[in-house]
Amino acid sequence: MMRLRFWVFIIVVLVILGISLGRTEAQSSSAATLTGRVSSQEEGAMEGVLVSAKRTGSKITVTVASNEHGEYSFPRNRLEPGQYSIRIRAVGYELEDPRPVEVNAEKSTTLDLKLRKTQDVSRQLSNGEWLMSMTGTEEQKQNFLGCTTCHTLERIVRSQHDAAEWIQVWRRMTEYAQGSTPARPQRRPSGGRGGSGGDMEPSLAQQNRLAKTAEYAATINLSGSSKWPYELKTLPRPKGKATKVIITEYDLPRPEALPHDAVADSQGNVWYSDFGSQFLGKLDPKTGKIIEYAVPLMHSEEPKGALDIGVDPEGKIWMGMMYQGVIARFDPNTEKFDTWKSPKFGQGDAARTAMVTPTRLNVDGKVWVGADDEYQVDLKTGQWTAIDYKRDIPKDSPLAKLSFGSYGVAVDSKNNFYGLNLGGEFVTRVNAETMTATPFRTPTPNSGPRRGHMDDQDRLWFAEFRGNKIGMFETKTEKFMEYAIPAPWTNPYDAVLDKTGYAWTGGMSNDHIVRMNTKTGETTEYLLPRMTNVRRVNIDNSTNPPTFWVGNNLGSSIIKLEPLEP
Ligand code: HEC
Repeated sequence: MMRLRFWVFIIVVLVILGISLGRTEAQSSSAATLTGRVSSQEEGAMEGVLVSAKRTGSKITVTVASNEHGEYSFPRNRLEPGQYSIRIRAVGYELEDPRPVEVNAEKSTTLDLKLRKTQDVSRQLSNGEWLMSMTGTEEQKQNFLGCTTCHTLERIVRSQHDAAEWIQVWRRMTEYAQGSTPARPQRRPSGGRGGSGGDMEPSLAQQNRLAKTAEYAATINLSGSSKWPYELKTLPRPKGKATKVIITEYDLPRPEALPHDAVADSQGNVWYSDFGSQFLGKLDPKTGKIIEYAVPLMHSEEPKGALDIGVDPEGKIWMGMMYQGVIARFDPNTEKFDTWKSPKFGQGDAARTAMVTPTRLNVDGKVWVGADDEYQVDLKTGQWTAIDYKRDIPKDSPLAKLSFGSYGVAVDSKNNFYGLNLGGEFVTRVNAETMTATPFRTPTPNSGPRRGHMDDQDRLWFAEFRGNKIGMFETKTEKFMEYAIPAPWTNPYDAVLDKTGYAWTGGMSNDHIVRMNTKTGETTEYLLPRMTNVRRVNIDNSTNPPTFWVGNNLGSSIIKLEPLEP
């Protein structure tokens, strides 16, 4: 009895402490340092305008959004005193007077922002908005989805190529390696197979298809006239919950960096891979400090850069080194790299190692590699065993004709493989002991499963790139759930569940980060402050509420997104 009373007392004290602590924290952080009202002649007070502030000389940009009264406000603990430049994002509008503003330590600064209609809205359209606007069928437009790997669609719609020229341009594009940008192209290994959205096969059927695509491409650009032969459509601005957010962008030290994957470790550091160079980066969000480590160059003739990045149970960082033909492990304590060579090392395209899954390597000492072929790698023996998806499929089964090649790779708690079939519509399990492959078809046809994360109940959350949905595959019951994303042409790349039950995804086409309440199905679509080439999405569950992280692959920055409201 005494004991119980004691514990009740302790709990009451803790609750009171918690409430008062929570209150002071909320008060100090919600006190604003820079506030104002956003308006335009056309709309009056404007909701959902993104307002970004960057201190002179700083590498960090902080963004908030205006509420239903047009008011925006930066919390005091997010802007240190100094001179700030201000930027806005509101499609169709621009800032009338983009003057710098002084932010003060003691008192709050008020800065009302007047917007005016932009002369040329075409300069502001996201890839998704171009896809919405273009004439053509969904299937025809899907031809352009692979193009955003290296540049925006603006380059395509502004071009003047006719169908014949398009065939040449299309072919030329297939000669670039994935980790390319127009500013820094890399050649593909020669004589390769596979591809990033190109159509190089010389077969007649392929040539005919390319000719059709080229004809179509000449109908959506400026080949026929000086104006687009369709109306330019834009997505509505964020509203309600989608405006209750703080977004922080950290510029990387090298402007050419392509931070394809970014992942938080258990100490809250954010590690990123570089899709086009031999660097591994670490961002400490508490200080904003960034350290970059040079990754060993394995093959000087092959394209440089890494794709997947993951943390193993001991806190070591793993990377899929693409055309360098190895998987690499970095020990943050010794700052040394170890590498394991693909059996196709030195064989150009075939050596490509994109994905590596270290999360459960404590189960059996093995990682899975997603590559030109997929493998199970025994780290002790160095043995790479290729997955044979067709081994156990009867020759007369309709499945025998399909390709199950996987892009994203995830593992369950027993370190079984789950491959995401970007070219098709399957999630394929491969048993870690028997290597038996079992394909499961998504309810949506041609959904394009791309990448995903397994949760702690062995449910795989993944992005349906063409299906425009978040998918969930419950590995125990072998059942799928799918959740549609409201905005068309979001083209989610990856999905992840946080510890509070929200599933998150990000779009490769429309700069949206989507949060979905898995209990109610409610979605919130946050708009990012800049054109953002979204790839891997990740959650840091060590913060309350969890923090969302993503790299801007073509923008050389790491982005943190914090919702301000559940
Ligand atoms: C792997 C990287 C990559 C992919 C994927 C890619 N491009 Fe490009 N693109 C480039 C590079 C590099 C340049 C600049 C150099 C050049 O023009 O060859 C470029 C430039 C362009 C240009 C401007 C130059 C011109 O000749 O008009 C157009 C148009 C274009 N790309 C169309 C496309 C289309 C259409 C797709 C999708 C089918 C695509 N690109 C996919 C890398 C890529």
